[in-house]
Formats: sequence, C-alpha cells, structure tokens
Amino acid sequence: MTRQPETDLWWKKTTVYQIYPRSFMDSSGNGIGDLEGIISKLDYVKDLGVETIWFSPFYTSPQEDFGYDIANYKDIAPEYGTMANCDKLIQEIHDRGMKIIMDLVLNHTSDKHPWFLESKSSRDNPKRDWYVWQDGKKPKGKAPPNNWQARITGSGWYYDENTDQWYWAQFLPFQPDLNYRNPEVKAKMFGTVRFWLEKGADGFRLDIIDSLYEDAAFRNNPLSRHLLPSEDGVLFKSTKMTMHHPDTMIFVQELRKLIDEYSNPSRFLVGEVEGPMPTIKKYCGEVNNPGLNSIFLFETLGVKLQPKTIRKLLNKFNQYYPDPFIPTWVSSNHDIMRRISRFNNDLEIAKLNAALQLTARAVPYIYYGEEIGLQQNSIPLSDSLDAVVSRFRKLPKVIQKLLQKITSEAIHRDNCRTPMQWTPSQNAGFCSPSIKPWLPVSSGYQDRNVETMYNNPDSILHCYKRFLQIRKQYSVLNSGRMTLIASELLPKQVLGFSRWIKTSDVKEEVNIFLNFEDTLVEFSNPTASKNIIASTTIVKAENNEQKIILRPYEAIIME
Ligand code: GLC
Repeated sequence: MTRQPETDLWWKKTTVYQIYPRSFMDSSGNGIGDLEGIISKLDYVKDLGVETIWFSPFYTSPQEDFGYDIANYKDIAPEYGTMANCDKLIQEIHDRGMKIIMDLVLNHTSDKHPWFLESKSSRDNPKRDWYVWQDGKKPKGKAPPNNWQARITGSGWYYDENTDQWYWAQFLPFQPDLNYRNPEVKAKMFGTVRFWLEKGADGFRLDIIDSLYEDAAFRNNPLSRHLLPSEDGVLFKSTKMTMHHPDTMIFVQELRKLIDEYSNPSRFLVGEVEGPMPTIKKYCGEVNNPGLNSIFLFETLGVKLQPKTIRKLLNKFNQYYPDPFIPTWVSSNHDIMRRISRFNNDLEIAKLNAALQLTARAVPYIYYGEEIGLQQNSIPLSDSLDAVVSRFRKLPKVIQKLLQKITSEAIHRDNCRTPMQWTPSQNAGFCSPSIKPWLPVSSGYQDRNVETMYNNPDSILHCYKRFLQIRKQYSVLNSGRMTLIASELLPKQVLGFSRWIKTSDVKEEVNIFLNFEDTLVEFSNPTASKNIIASTTIVKAENNEQKIILRPYEAIIME
C-alpha cells in the first residue's frame, strides 16, 4: 500500500467543525435535529469555509447520555434517520470536498446494549467477560470491590443483585465499561472501526480513550496530595489504576496501525485525553510506532485572553508538538461552557478569539454556533435533561444555585447544546415555530442567527469566513511554523507572531497582531510585512510599513 508523503497529510492542515446532531436542524418536525436536516445545511457549512465535520454520535442509543451511550455501533438512531440517510450524508460531504470524522465511544456501551444485557444475565453467559465484573468486598460482598471512583465522582462500581457481582463504569452508571482484556471485545471493536472506514469515515474522535484499560489486578487507587484535578488525581485519590494505563497506550498504537492500512486519503485519530501535557503526549506514541495522530489540548477552552498567557500557551504547544506533530485548538464543545459566554457574550472579543484560533499553529475545532456568537443558555437545573446533573438535583436549592454559578460548565451541559440559530423567527429556524425544540433556544437569537449575520459584512460570521478562507489560501497559515515576536517590540496589550515556511531559496511569511484590549493602540511595525490581508473588522486600520494601528480587540494578518 502506498503511503502519502508526510506533507500531504490533510488532517494536519484542516479546520474542523463539530456538529451536535440533535441540535443542528430538524427536518422531520419533532423538535430534534436529524441527518436530513444536516444534509440540508451542508452548503452553509461548506460556504463557511471549514474542511472537516466531526459529528457527535448518532448511532442507535437510548439517549440517556444523548448518543454517548451506544446500543448498536452499526446502525443509526431512528430519531436521526436511517443507514441510508447516513450513507447519503457521507456521500454529500465528500461530494463537497469535505471530510467526515465519526465519534467513537470505545470505552463503554449503553447498559441497554444487547451485549450488556447478555453479560449481566448470568455469570456463565459467554459475554459475561465482555464487561468488567468483580466480586464485592468480603465477607458478604456487599461493598464495592475497591476504591475506584468514576469520573463523575462517587464509586464507579454498581451492584447487580441477580448475579451478586459489581460492574465497573468509568462515566455514568448506565455506561458499563467494556473489557478490552478480552480478545473478542477488541476484535469486535476493531471490526466496527473497519466498518466505518469502509463506509468512508475519514477519521475518528475517540471518546474518553484515556480510560480504556484499568489495572488488571484491581488494586486500589493510592492516595493523592491533590484536591483539584492534577497530575496524580483528584479529591485526594489518584487515578493511577483507572486512567492512562500502559495497555491503553499499546491499544492506540494498534488502532493507529489499523487505520493506517487505509490510505488515499489517509485517515486519522483525535483523542479525548485529559491530564497534564507530558502524560497526554504519550498517546502520540513514538515516531516508529505512532499512536494517536492528535489530541484535544483542552487548555484552550478556559485560557484567559491575555497576551502573556496566550504567549505561554503557544510556546508550550510548540515545545510539546513540534513537527511532525500538530497541536489542536478547541474553543468550545458539547461538554463545556460556550467560550463567548466567558467573555460576557461580547462579539468583538469572540472575533479576536476566532482570529487567534484560526492563525495559531494548530488544527482548529469550531463548535457549531460559535461562528454566529451563539450564547450559553441558562436553563435551570430543575429542567435539565443531561444525566450528569441529575445527581445535583437532590441538593438544597441554594447549594444548586451556588454550584451552577461556580461550576456551570461541569454540571449543566444542556446549556451549551441548544439549537443552532438559522433565522430570527421563533425557534430560530431550527424547527417549525409550532413545535417545542428539545432544548430551548438561547437568548439573543433574533440578532445572532445565520440569516441576519449573512447580511452584515462586519458580523462575526463574516469574520470567521474571512479567516477560514485566508487560512486555506495561504499555506503558511495551515502548515507553516510559528515564531513569537519579542514582547519588547510590542505594546503590552498586543501579541504578535509570525507563521513561516522556508524552502532552500524562498521564505514565505505572514505576521499576526492581536490587540487584547478595548482601546486603540499604535506601534511601529517590527516586521517587514506591508499589507493587511485579513482583519477581524472590515474597517481597515491605516497601517503602513512603519506603523500599525489596531482598533479595540482587532486582530490582523499582514504579509
Ligand atoms: C465524553 C463526551 C461526553 C460524554 C462522555 C461519556 O467526555 O464528550 O459528552 O458524556 O464522554 O461518553
């Protein structure tokens, strides 16, 4: 099989748009987004300028975790459509020259998956060992086998009365972990990967892949010195036995070998891995035995927009992900507070954030709606549908309110999953005005919607379009190196960096300047660039070779 040369690897230079299928576009009239709805909006996605679409799961599922609880990996949830709709979706994406990334939940299935139903039916069922079952603590076995905590706090062991054993679930109780020490499970899931590769998937996003294997001897997690999530645990308990197991690293290397069998075009893996940089970098494997192609680097989700902090982060990404590696730059996703709402929903700051994301040396991941300034909703906890919040409902109202205020991103995921806003009409054009959408539309949709923003050339939507376009046009922006401009050469509120490519005789270069404050700033141009090729605003500042003027929160690219 012929491999493409390194430089042609599309996934290194692409831009990714994440669609949460339930919330993108309802075509069937039930208030829930679906595949035909998505297909009807593909021209919009293409026109936006993104090159790859990642879909949160739309496989058969009881939807207790809205698709991250799968009951059949090779079929489509009926509320979203059929396999025929899915084949059409893949085809239509490819016809437009775009790529598709499927979300793959390998760690666990739904507890309604036929495999788990069989597994729990008796201790001697042939599928018993497909999941992680253990006896409880002696003498009566009525206490969990060990001290392992699930991600969502509390013991991750659940008692099954019928067979008098406990099963392990790293995330929520209805998401039992598969047992990858059983070769049948591994073979089955590798088969699933091939099934989707053969259908045309261009890559996979691997859900909580860091939790795939646990300690084979079920040893207790040791104590940690840390209360907050850190290198060696959380809430004073280490996650040594339950996360980042060496066998998981071996697994991702095997998976990489599998997907590398498919070339023309090449495929890729991006992993959801949490932890400090040196730990998560290990998932990339070694040059001769690679693992994941890329990893979500979630520090970008909450990072403060300050020149000093961003400078540090860019340096860190460069240090850990030098060529041939490439970092990722994620602003928002379906689990976390929408980034714009960390900036008081300010559209100008959101444009600056977009400019940074689309010019940094990284693969950008844009979450649907970011391009129109879609805001975090504020649905009360009592009305939430997300299973993660259910455990907070028992708490007194005052504590609930306090918790929501301080940790809204962690406990209330409905608020970042509200319908896409297409028009200023009721329900924002996501579904008919006479239907109740599955989640209430966020406030501000009368102005923050695709139709209205299309008509305003200075809108955030057009800002995204300009930067996405220029990123495609200038190869330095999608595959060049990055060098920070010395801070002594710039005013305090400005960050500058260059993106460049040097071949034996030519050096291509563009320079990016970002103003992080709401005041106009003027400074001498520290580079040889002369012309502005993109700005977050359409009103071009009067810049020239010697002098640069940036308006409040303006970011520009110069060549
Ligand atoms: C990941 C997903 C999240 C899901 C969880 C369990 O973190 O992003 O939405 O609930 O895994 O699958």
